[in-house]
Amino acid sequence: MKCIRCKKKAVITLKRHNAAFCAECFLHYYRNQVLKNIQKNKMFKKDDKVLVVVSGGKDSMALWDVLVKEGYNVVAMYINLGIGEYSNRSQEVVENFAKKNNLPLIVKNIKEEFGLDIYKLSKTLKRSPCSVCGTIKRYLFNKVAYDNGFSVIATGHNLDDEAATLLGNILNWGESYLARQGPVLPQTHPKLIKKVKPLYTLTEKENMYYVLLNKIEFLHEECPYSVGARSILYKELLNELEEKSPGTKQRFLIGFLEKGKKHFKEVENIELKECKTCGHVTTTEECSFCRLTKVSNTVS
Ligand code: FES
Ligand code: ZN
Repeated sequence: MKCIRCKKKAVITLKRHNAAFCAECFLHYYRNQVLKNIQKNKMFKKDDKVLVVVSGGKDSMALWDVLVKEGYNVVAMYINLGIGEYSNRSQEVVENFAKKNNLPLIVKNIKEEFGLDIYKLSKTLKRSPCSVCGTIKRYLFNKVAYDNGFSVIATGHNLDDEAATLLGNILNWGESYLARQGPVLPQTHPKLIKKVKPLYTLTEKENMYYVLLNKIEFLHEECPYSVGARSILYKELLNELEEKSPGTKQRFLIGFLEKGKKHFKEVENIELKECKTCGHVTTTEECSFCRLTKVSNTVS
């Protein structure tokens, strides 16, 4: 098969676009997609200070690399979640990349800095580790971005992630989640930093090609707590559909953003307050992060 752009031998086929690319033209296509997503959705400009959230996985490593190469003003942030070897290895991957390319990186360690243990907290609170982890990550990314004057937080969510989230939200009729789902979560309070997903039209596979072609080291394994997660089941189901009908995920997500989303409204009148302990934005007296820290002190 020939590359649709330069007619040389193709090494990558993208069924959903009915396209094939050589390595060089694939990278051209990839960069264009990212730039188009950023510009079309007004995510950020060259002079914005962007905090890129990295986990060591292929998606966030690809995002970090492409934004640096395109000349954006980015600083990466990594959180060591204290999930045994998985966390140690992912920190190593991220630190190696920063060192090799001389890039700024902020590292936080939830056990050492805040005494938080995801496993113990999830057992005590009878919540899934992923939900405890999500609360901690959201809080810390926002806090670091706010405290250090970043205008936007960028994450490596891809088309597969977004389509799976959409499927979950539809199956559960999560109306306010549906109203908010999208590549940009705007700033609704001075202390809540805008969040963006520049890779939302690129698949896991395309991010994988990007890191492999650029010889970027990444962590192959998934978080051990994600085993059995509902989102993985949704991804598997969507993969089956995609296999039989290429383009399904894209039609599903982009169709929703263009035609479906406007029919959903966010639950209104949620009063935003400032946490009595740390001052960050919350809907209750004390934010969920501060509550977790307290529970953690009582169980350790
Ligand atoms: Fe958060 Fe796995 S990365 S629970
Ligand atoms: Zn708080």
